[in-house]
Amino acid sequence: MRLILLGPPGAGKGTQANFIKEKFGIPQISTGDMLRAAVKAGTPLGIEAKKVMDAGGLVSDDIIIGLVKDRLLQDDCKAGYMFDGFPRTIPQADAMKDAGVPIDFVLEIDVPDSEIVERMSGRRAHLASGRTYHVKYNPPKVEGKDDVTGEDLVQRDDDKEETVKKRLDVYHAQTKPLVEYYGKWAASGDANAPKVRKISGLGPVEEITANAFAALK
Ligand code: AP5
Ligand code: ZN
Repeated sequence: MRLILLGPPGAGKGTQANFIKEKFGIPQISTGDMLRAAVKAGTPLGIEAKKVMDAGGLVSDDIIIGLVKDRLLQDDCKAGYMFDGFPRTIPQADAMKDAGVPIDFVLEIDVPDSEIVERMSGRRAHLASGRTYHVKYNPPKVEGKDDVTGEDLVQRDDDKEETVKKRLDVYHAQTKPLVEYYGKWAASGDANAPKVRKISGLGPVEEITANAFAALK
């Protein structure tokens, strides 16, 4: 299984990615998690990326494409992979197409903007694993602690209301057009084109997972 998870910030890509990667036994390639790891490690990339991320912008295509191409060389990607938060621009999608990186499905998780800000304000994250929770909708078993490691949960620096609004604008301008991009490719009859699926991201997490599994057939 090789798939792309598409959707606005806060759609639940990371939340659903956790279940999808288990079911299919594939790695989750989250460019957001990779960048946050670089920020935490204080690498030159991390220092640059932090400024952009905190402002709600996008890190440059060249950097992101390089990161993903390197990641795809690792052995665990032979069984398949799931992109979470990538591609996010037409040049990123073109780079994968040009490199002949196979994609079976593009799964769009649809959530209206009005829902996003509330979700983000309640989000808590375990940065090392990328697992996310919500204080109300998806609470951890022990308040403030990751279910698996018991380590502290934190609030992401880019989850401030103003930054979330900026990220939504960027999503509509740069990422949403990918729905049409993949739709057109699928309609062209090209045998390499992915199947494009859309599910609602509203409702209980388990229900969305069931709909995601059903869509990936
Ligand atoms: P990234 O980490 O990819 O952020 P994002 O796309 O904005 O998505 P999020 O992680 O915010 O949301 P999510 O859909 O994963 O939602 P989650 O499951 O956590 O990117 C961060 C930044 O890095 C970017 O802004 C950019 O600067 C940079 N970057 C990354 N990739 C890049 C790229 N390819 N190119 C350039 N720059 C890049 O859920 C959200 C909350 O909702 C949680 O609290 C969760 O518990 C809750 N929740 C989940 N499901 C439900 C539900 N059904 N009902 C109620 N609440 C729910
Ligand atoms: Zn995420």
